[in-house]
Amino acid sequence: MAGAAAAVTRRAATLLLSSRFRTPASRVASLIPIVGASNRRFVCASSVSARTAEPAEAAAQLGETVKEFRKRLRIDEVKGGPDEGLDWVGKGLTVRGWVRTCRVQSSVTFIEVNDGSCLSNMQCVMTSDAEGYDQIESGAVTTGASILIEGTVVPSQGAKQKIELKVTRLVVIGRSDPTTYPIQKKRATREFFRSIAHLRPRTNTFSAVTRVRNALAYATHKFFQENGFVWVSSPIITASDCEGAGEQFYVTTLIQNDTEDNNFNVSKIPTTKDGKIDWSQDFFGKPAFLTVSGQLNGETYACALSDIYTFGPTFRAENSNTSRHLAEFWMIEPELAFADLNDDMACATAYLQYVVKYVLENCKEDMEFFNTWIEKGIINRLNDVVEKSFVQLSYTDAIDLLVKSKKKFEFPVKWGLDLQSEHERYITEQVFGGSPVIIRDYPKEIKAFYMRQNDDEKTVAAMDLLVPRVGELIGGSQREERLDYLEARLEELNLNKESYWWYLDLRRFGSVPHAGFGLGFERLVQFATGIENIRDAIPFPRTPGSADF
Ligand code: 4AD
Ligand code: MG
Repeated sequence: MAGAAAAVTRRAATLLLSSRFRTPASRVASLIPIVGASNRRFVCASSVSARTAEPAEAAAQLGETVKEFRKRLRIDEVKGGPDEGLDWVGKGLTVRGWVRTCRVQSSVTFIEVNDGSCLSNMQCVMTSDAEGYDQIESGAVTTGASILIEGTVVPSQGAKQKIELKVTRLVVIGRSDPTTYPIQKKRATREFFRSIAHLRPRTNTFSAVTRVRNALAYATHKFFQENGFVWVSSPIITASDCEGAGEQFYVTTLIQNDTEDNNFNVSKIPTTKDGKIDWSQDFFGKPAFLTVSGQLNGETYACALSDIYTFGPTFRAENSNTSRHLAEFWMIEPELAFADLNDDMACATAYLQYVVKYVLENCKEDMEFFNTWIEKGIINRLNDVVEKSFVQLSYTDAIDLLVKSKKKFEFPVKWGLDLQSEHERYITEQVFGGSPVIIRDYPKEIKAFYMRQNDDEKTVAAMDLLVPRVGELIGGSQREERLDYLEARLEELNLNKESYWWYLDLRRFGSVPHAGFGLGFERLVQFATGIENIRDAIPFPRTPGSADF
């Protein structure tokens, strides 16, 4: 009953929301009763209008109402349909975007405009009788310039597109000096583009990565929302070290910039008598950090709302200059109550298959681009991910498999040692032919304190999901829900039990078996686009020695 009522309310709320952008205010008002008297939005809306004058009336006396939110047509909406825009032939259209190329020929000029809504440009064909042709003659329509073009959609003569725009009016909005604009027709390296991170979204590769990243984020929320998970915002500033690895950035106001030469005076940092930093004088009264994971906070909400997920930025001060590590990355951390490791692995698998399927279905043009230019065969590889079952095997079996391979690895392979990227990649790429693989039940010594101890007393109920090229995409576990085991583990690891008092409370009051995982969002973007370096999977990468832009 409750579920059905919630579904009805949700549907009604969606109707109200989606109509906001399309319907004039008067029509929205007429939609409100559909929501039903039991809906709180309705109660709020009516109580507001009972207290105050109608906005239109007030506007007449005091000013003007805010105008309706603009609905702007993008190139994708015109060219992205099944007939690639042919249904638009004969219609008028206004395009706003940035010039990719401008070719002036004796009788016509071709302007390729991109507005970022899709990979395709709008080819605009202009003759000298169109308004604004003087801008072409004066050389203002150059690569990188922003323009507005009005025209009529006509069938295209060229083979590259079905339609083009016959220009009636052109306005240059912002000029771009072609001699200094850093993006030139010649192909440049990804390293170079990192040095112009503010302009790189104007290239095909980075705009496509950005759109796919956006689709993955949307699909993430969609998956969890459809499965009854509640999104929880875990804090970014924290006083605990979830992973216990000590790779944290400090958050402090003890460093004060109070000198004239814009520098910091170390002697101003307050210290205790024995020469240590006096944290009691810091903003939080104790050391605080940027979070490495939202898991511990997530667990508290899972132990009340059953299934939750976090999706936010996390930070690690590990000095890893690799193609898979960032100092600031986004993590998705679902936490499932009344769940064990098998439920956890099943959730990770269903989630990954869902989001991959979503981008294959909804980002076709961008995926074709990656398939041609970034990683040949990526579409087939991702189709396999969606269709085939994932393999899971124990850490012990994985070690056996690596030892028996007789392959020379740079890092040693021995029970008790952590698997390195080269081992993980060998397992997914060579042994399982490119399929994702889950490795479970790792030795407890190499895993975090909160993982549930298995009956063998040597391993914990942990799981890592490995994928080709990237290696570890997901790390998760069943959590230790038994108070005595957890306390014993904290003691063994010399961790301060007092500072985990609230985490231990979850085991004191209504403890339940629960499990979850963390997925590195940029690694997912790498996996779904084929982009080799994680620095190209996030708009503004933060890595050791680099926090520009
Ligand atoms: O395996 P990790 O360290 O697990 C946790 O943080 C757990 N608290 C998650 C949980 O159970 N809720 O990190 C999870 C994932 C990794 O598998 C990897 O994909 C990503 O986060 N990751 C990084 N991504 C980019 N740069 C880094 N420096 C990363 N460190 C971890
Ligand atoms: Mg891990």
